[in-house]
Amino acid sequence: MIHKKTISVEAPANIAFVKYWGKQGRQMPINPSVSMTLKECVTRCQIEYEDFKEGPILESYQFEGAENEAFRNRIEKYLNDIIDIYPLLENLKLSIKTENTFPHSAGIASSASAFAAIGYALAQIEKSENIDKRASELARLGSGSASRSVTGPYMMWGDFEEEASTDGYAIAIEDIHLDFHNLKDAVLLIDQNEKKISSSAGHAMMDTHPFRENRIKQANQHTKKILKAMREGDWELFGNILETEALTLHAMMMTSSPSYLLLAPNTLAAIEKIRDYRKKTSISAYFTIDAGPNIHLIYLQKDEESVESFIKQNLTDLCHDGRIIFDQCGAGARVTASGSSDE
Ligand code: PMV
Repeated sequence: MIHKKTISVEAPANIAFVKYWGKQGRQMPINPSVSMTLKECVTRCQIEYEDFKEGPILESYQFEGAENEAFRNRIEKYLNDIIDIYPLLENLKLSIKTENTFPHSAGIASSASAFAAIGYALAQIEKSENIDKRASELARLGSGSASRSVTGPYMMWGDFEEEASTDGYAIAIEDIHLDFHNLKDAVLLIDQNEKKISSSAGHAMMDTHPFRENRIKQANQHTKKILKAMREGDWELFGNILETEALTLHAMMMTSSPSYLLLAPNTLAAIEKIRDYRKKTSISAYFTIDAGPNIHLIYLQKDEESVESFIKQNLTDLCHDGRIIFDQCGAGARVTASGSSDE
């Protein structure tokens, strides 16, 4: 008789306000980062597991109901790589299924939500003492930014001054100003095609990037200022850092060797419209961009109606098939089901 157990979890994507760009050691960041955990853009993950003595750890993997060799290979490599810190895997056989509520590899952090979900499920299987911390650590080893998707709504990862965050795992930011409690994120899907270059390749280019030291310095300064802005409710300071961070991330890509460009013509058109709108109205919304062409437009809950009507009237035509995901900050990963069966 085989005793099988199942755990189902879901974990959201996150959008970085201060970007993690460049690694050191074993999946540690070269600079601190700050992010917002999303609510609607999630990966649902089911892991069926049983005891075993020999054979591969990953028995099967399905993405959205079908085999996916590229994802399977990445997850298999991940599981084999973490055995030293998660020894339970020496005696487990896993069948994993994942699905996303949003298009993958389009600059919405699909690897972040996927590895946060897997890390969270593994921490649950292990019955870790501190599930969130352990899940963030395990998620980080799959995709650095995944460390910030386990809890919410606002997270930081990486050693930074007196803050309790570390390079090993992310923590929720405390004492956020009331105005920032329910930030909104409209994800403008400018282009849904696959990324031209993986983020691992991008991080690696930071090792020898001519602007590396200044970038690290800037990210630390931005972290200090954005935490102050989020705690004191300084929306304008927050917004300025947000946009500078997004453009710096892409500037790093454009000036790396080899150089590459992930922004699309409609990304720039949307940026101009957003800045123009901000000049003309008292309502403000600021953009950020992940490793792709899509825009995340961040705004306050009180401005929801007017910003969303601006988006629908002015930005829909710039999006692929007019696609926009209206999301907001969220609480992080959760267990959706668990059970066991004998076969
Ligand atoms: O988690 P990775 O290795 O896919 O890196 C992604 C880094 C960015 O998404 C570009 C920025 C960030 O901090 O999320």
